[in-house]
Amino acid sequence: MNILLTGGAGYIGSHTAVVLVQAGHKIVIYDNFCNSSKPTIDNLESVVKQKVSVVEGDIRNTSLLAQTLKQFSIDAVIHFAGLKAVGESVQEPLNYYENNVQGTLSLLRAMNELCVKNIVFSSSATVYGDPQYLPIDEAHPLAPTNPYGRTKLHIEQILEDQTKADIDFKVVNLRYFNPVGAHASGLLGENPKGTPNNLTPFIARVASGDLQELNIFGNDYPTEDGTGVRDYIHVEDLADGHVAALNFLSHTVGFETFNLGTGNGCSVLQMIVAYKKASGKKIPYRIVSKRPGDIASCYAAPTKANQILKWKAGRTLQEMCESSWAFQQYLKNSHPVSANTQ
Ligand code: NAD
Ligand code: UFG
Repeated sequence: MNILLTGGAGYIGSHTAVVLVQAGHKIVIYDNFCNSSKPTIDNLESVVKQKVSVVEGDIRNTSLLAQTLKQFSIDAVIHFAGLKAVGESVQEPLNYYENNVQGTLSLLRAMNELCVKNIVFSSSATVYGDPQYLPIDEAHPLAPTNPYGRTKLHIEQILEDQTKADIDFKVVNLRYFNPVGAHASGLLGENPKGTPNNLTPFIARVASGDLQELNIFGNDYPTEDGTGVRDYIHVEDLADGHVAALNFLSHTVGFETFNLGTGNGCSVLQMIVAYKKASGKKIPYRIVSKRPGDIASCYAAPTKANQILKWKAGRTLQEMCESSWAFQQYLKNSHPVSANTQ
């Protein structure tokens, strides 16, 4: 198939690009590089050992999107493009609604014009909000607690409405839990600009000596060791989930949602132990007050994806940490002064 990856130069998109090429698909990356960089494309090409088509553009540019869908005879879209920082979304909600929701409307207009009827959407476990029960299955109530999460829920609803209006329009809606780790080549991974918000990129920088210590946001949660528990999933397993989703799209109708997670909860302290083992480095930390809006535990019931998509996240926590550490060292060697300038 010819597949358009909006946001394909980003963290999850670049890993998915690798597995799609390896599965024999032709891919086109459409990205405005607002949170990614051109060297990622060079590294992606090194990994897949071939040139990759890239269009630099914004998803809000409907005519450029339509032109791209036509030029490359696109059969399906995987829609990764979006802004994703929870805190920033609270400060700048309009940017989030404009980029994520309006951007998706623009994409759907272009797809409609060119009769492209297949889409896989990058949603998030954040649409569930504060868990009412665990593990979280797809039937769990939806109550996002921040603007970022609400953009994801709005987009899900828009996509579902469109499947009702057009019986040929098909959507696989993927709710990711916490993607971590990096590609086995050590060339692709997560490299947030500035100080990382998320746990593993922060730990990676502490282990490499760029940051002094990790702040653990609270140790009196009702969890086994008091620290927050999440469902960390290796980004390569997540990437494989997209290949499974595309296969499913080819023989389904309508709108279908799947959780992509491991089903296992891991605490902050357990992550520190695993990362310490993977890197051989000390991870100094101190306990600070809870981060506003954080929840105690969140992990998936991935049974539906396991059974229907015939996909399962198999890589271990240790593999997540080892691959993250290998990528951190690659960054350090390629940018010895600062690892976060890519
Ligand atoms: P990322 O920021 O690394 O990748 C997103 C890509 O989209 C970037 O390359 C960025 O330049 C591009 N982009 C953003 N706005 C754009 C626009 N208007 N036009 C064109 N390109 C644009 O993020 P990621 O971690 O790879 O996440 C991919 C998707 O998965 C996002 O939609 C995100 O919300 C979702 N998601 C991510 C996580 C996570 O923890 N990483 C969890 C759940 C869901
Ligand atoms: N944590 C710390 N210190 C840090 C960073 C995080 O103790 O410096 C803790 C948090 O309190 C939490 C756990 O580590 O208990 C995980 O935090 P992350 O920020 O890595 O991940 P979140 O679960 O808070 O959120 C992430 C994304 C969201 C997405 C969600 C589910 O940031 O966008 O996963 O997919 F919606």
